Amino acid sequence: MHLNVVQVSKSFGTKSAVDRVNFAVEGAKFIGIIGRSGAGKSTFLRMMNRLTDATDGRIEVDGVDVLSLTGKAKRDWQSQCAMVFQQFNLVPRMDVASNVLHGLLGRRSTLTSLLNLWSSADITRALEILDRLGIQEQAAKRAEALSGGQQQRVAIARALMQDPKIILADEPIASLDPMNAQIVMDTLKRINIEDGRMVIANLHTLDTARRYCDRVIGMRDGRVVFDGTADQLTQDVARDIYGADQSFSESATSTEISSLASGQKYADALLGD
Ligand SMILES: Nc1ncnc2c1ncn2[C@@H]1O[C@H](COP(=O)(O)OP(=O)(O)OP(=O)(O)O)[C@@H](O)[C@H]1O
Ligand SMILES: [Mg+2]
Repeated sequence: MHLNVVQVSKSFGTKSAVDRVNFAVEGAKFIGIIGRSGAGKSTFLRMMNRLTDATDGRIEVDGVDVLSLTGKAKRDWQSQCAMVFQQFNLVPRMDVASNVLHGLLGRRSTLTSLLNLWSSADITRALEILDRLGIQEQAAKRAEALSGGQQQRVAIARALMQDPKIILADEPIASLDPMNAQIVMDTLKRINIEDGRMVIANLHTLDTARRYCDRVIGMRDGRVVFDGTADQLTQDVARDIYGADQSFSESATSTEISSLASGQKYADALLGD
């Protein structure tokens, strides 16, 4: 799979939210997008999924500019790139299995969906996906009865039900405790490696970006200011991306269990000399 982002921009009135973003990815990589609040991370993902229209530029996926698709082709693309959100976006009072089956909405007629007419093959597949993510025993419960980490895995299961090429995750672990954050990130990584689906995740913690991503894109004020591997994401680079001064403490952007337990030691070590 080949992704080519060319001069993609988005303005809201006079405000430039995403400003001439360029990058290219070869193969089903795990991409992290980092940057401070307002940098344009969510706007970029929303353009890619066509939830919002770009002002300018192209996003080519295997040679097709997905920003210019309309009608059915646009809807097909939207089911090819599934979204996962910080707040899970499940139907809280509906059971888990039905929430997962709703991943098929884009591919079904409205009437079939309204009447919940899922085929037994669909139901079997939904249960298999839940089993794969370790939450099949929750299938009959209401989504709202699950923990945050479980709910996010349901949201990932719903995304998988679409059989997408790409999973776009907008701060998928920002509402989770460190243990659940790790389970959810491990789940996304497994899907990336085992299924060969590209993952593009907006992340707000550096250690998560370093640990899980093949490639990290750093955004500041709508622009790409860093594009490299996790190894190249040094403390100085991070300061630049976040526009922070020397007092910038990496542990403040950490969700890792070990670094939370010894937060001060971790920060001291990083900023020491
Ligand atoms: N619908 C909108 N109307 C007007 N301005 C918007 C809209 N959506 C986003 N913006 C502006 O675009 C810029 C980028 O916002 P965006 O939500 O993409 O940032 P972000 O990097 O996802 O931030 P966060 O880390 O807080 O989620 C911000 O200045 C924001 O105020
Ligand atoms: Mg955002």
